[in-house]
Amino acid sequence: MKILITGTSRGIGLACAKKYLEMGHEVIGFDVAESDLSSPSYTHMIVDIKKDLPDLDGINVLINNAGIQEGPDVIETNLSATIAVTEKYAFQDSIHSVLFMASSSASNGAEFPEYAASKGGVVTYMKNTALRLAKYGATSNSISAGGVYTPLNAHIMDDPKLMQQCLDETLLGRWASAEEIADLSYYLTNVNKSMTGQDLLIDNGEQLKSNFIW
Ligand SMILES: NC(=O)c1ccc[n+]([C@@H]2O[C@H](COP(=O)([O-])OP(=O)(O)OC[C@H]3O[C@@H](n4cnc5c(N)ncnc54)[C@H](O)[C@@H]3O)[C@@H](O)[C@H]2O)c1
Repeated sequence: MKILITGTSRGIGLACAKKYLEMGHEVIGFDVAESDLSSPSYTHMIVDIKKDLPDLDGINVLINNAGIQEGPDVIETNLSATIAVTEKYAFQDSIHSVLFMASSSASNGAEFPEYAASKGGVVTYMKNTALRLAKYGATSNSISAGGVYTPLNAHIMDDPKLMQQCLDETLLGRWASAEEIADLSYYLTNVNKSMTGQDLLIDNGEQLKSNFIW
């Protein structure tokens, strides 16, 4: 299959690119940064998803992963550009599945205001996409991760005390790896046939953890 992934230079997008390559697929990666990933089945394209998107045919799986956490372009990058990418590449006969990297902040409202709002928008748009992709027999789902070990969180990972505080907020006392998210992505897009319009919360029980007093 031909897989288009945004934000493949590092983090979750890079782990996803490696996973789909390992499973024998052709991967096209968009990123504003260069990539060290070298494989005959991998094509890296320097593309800012907020700007002109190149013409590509025959995409089977689209993974909307590129995103930023703060700054003036959060809504434009995480929501408007994600919509533009999906409208351009997903609605064609070849499409099999679309996946969005939302965030646990979409359901609990935590983190930077624009970030939480952008990811809430992504979850709603994912459902809208599911409704419109059904005629192609294609699925649309999203992953809402809590903490994941990626360079996005370097400022936390580099501070042992802060890192431990974050881990203590979760029920399982851990964060996910980018590879775990990539495995789940593969399942959702390439194994799953019947689940569509759904958002999966992968937060090590962070939102479930509560201190209810009986
Ligand atoms: N890491 C986490 O804890 C976490 C948790 C929940 C959700 N997410 C989401 O998962 C996705 C990936 O996160 P990550 O941790 O791997 O981030 P990351 O910052 O490590 O990697 C993101 C990649 O996207 C690229 N990118 C950013 N803006 C772009 C643009 N306009 N055009 C093209 N490429 C662009 C960056 O250059 C980078 O390579 C993001 O949407 C993020 O919001 C991450």
